[in-house]
Amino acid sequence: MDMINGESSCELLQAQAQVYNCTFNFINSMALKCAVQLGIPDLINKHGQPMTLSQLVTALNILPKKAGSLHRLMRILAHSGFFDRQKTSKNEQEEEYTLTPASKLLLKDKPLKAAPFVHLILDPIIRDTFHFMSTWFQNDDPTVFETANGKPIWDCIAQQPKLKNLFYDAMSADSQLIASVVMKDCKHVFMGLKSLVDVGGGTGAMAKVIASAFPHIKCTVFDLPHVVDNLQGIDQNLEFIGGDMFEAIPSADAVLLKWIIHDWGDEESVKILKKCKEAIPSRGKVIIIDMAIDSEKEEKETILETQLCCDMLMMGMLNTAKERSVEQWKKLFLEAGFTHFKINPVLGLRSLIEVYP
Ligand SMILES: C[S@@+](CC[C@H](N)C(=O)[O-])C[C@H]1O[C@@H](n2cnc3c(N)ncnc32)[C@H](O)[C@@H]1O
Repeated sequence: MDMINGESSCELLQAQAQVYNCTFNFINSMALKCAVQLGIPDLINKHGQPMTLSQLVTALNILPKKAGSLHRLMRILAHSGFFDRQKTSKNEQEEEYTLTPASKLLLKDKPLKAAPFVHLILDPIIRDTFHFMSTWFQNDDPTVFETANGKPIWDCIAQQPKLKNLFYDAMSADSQLIASVVMKDCKHVFMGLKSLVDVGGGTGAMAKVIASAFPHIKCTVFDLPHVVDNLQGIDQNLEFIGGDMFEAIPSADAVLLKWIIHDWGDEESVKILKKCKEAIPSRGKVIIIDMAIDSEKEEKETILETQLCCDMLMMGMLNTAKERSVEQWKKLFLEAGFTHFKINPVLGLRSLIEVYP
């Protein structure tokens, strides 16, 4: 067989398609951001039945000459699983669109949502940071974020109200969704507890759900003072305390760490876990919600790829932050003085991990 560049024609063209596909990935992200900004999922939802392209053009109040472009936007979003599309029964030429489980998470006024995460990750301050990755590899800066923006991300979050809101809205939306699954499928992890402290609990979305589902559990959200200073518990059994988890953590039967340890390197993580151990009784536990990457396991392709992207996000944003494998988690727990643990991969991208002294 004749070869070009050492490959068959088929292999060569496949290789080109692979490079182009990876290069074009940002267009998928931007198409998603555009749909969220235009409020397309809300318009289809408000319509109450499948919505045709021309109805969408009218509802969006866009120029008729852009209808073809809207069709192309909807086509790529349907390909990515955000909309179902079919030909209308009346007019074979026209398509109509319905929501999928993924686009239902983009609706504005629903309790369970993912759009705030889209807004955060695709905001220029995060997205553009990645233009500086190769520069960072060749300099001595602690993070790509600092190469791009001149200071650490936590400083920017504390100083820039817009970024602070984007960040905590995204965290809160993520926590609401995870909390609803935990309450439905994993309620048993909270059985028998009288108190719980959500360390790095942000604005309290997760703790609020636990506090109202378990009125007898005294819940505390513990986070940096600038995060919790103006927050108050709506339930009797929910309070907010400001502080530093590297100094001391309020005592409780259980400590919850959701999306905390992945922000830190091994040395800091062991310090945090040791502080958690000091805060709980000998029969208490630490409940961790974080990723446990298992690249050997036949994960669904989107799960593993998203976990690897999250790991790159951590690498770009925070010095020493990373997503961990089961083996890396085990090493941390043993170093922090815990004796046993259970890792349950029951939360999609993340696992529910229980760690015991
Ligand atoms: C990735 S966010 C996770 C927030 C929340 N647990 C969630 O999953 O929605 C990390 C949290 O850790 C908090 N944090 C960072 N450093 C901290 C410290 N030294 N002491 C207490 N909280 C801290 C941040 O303010 C932030 O709310």
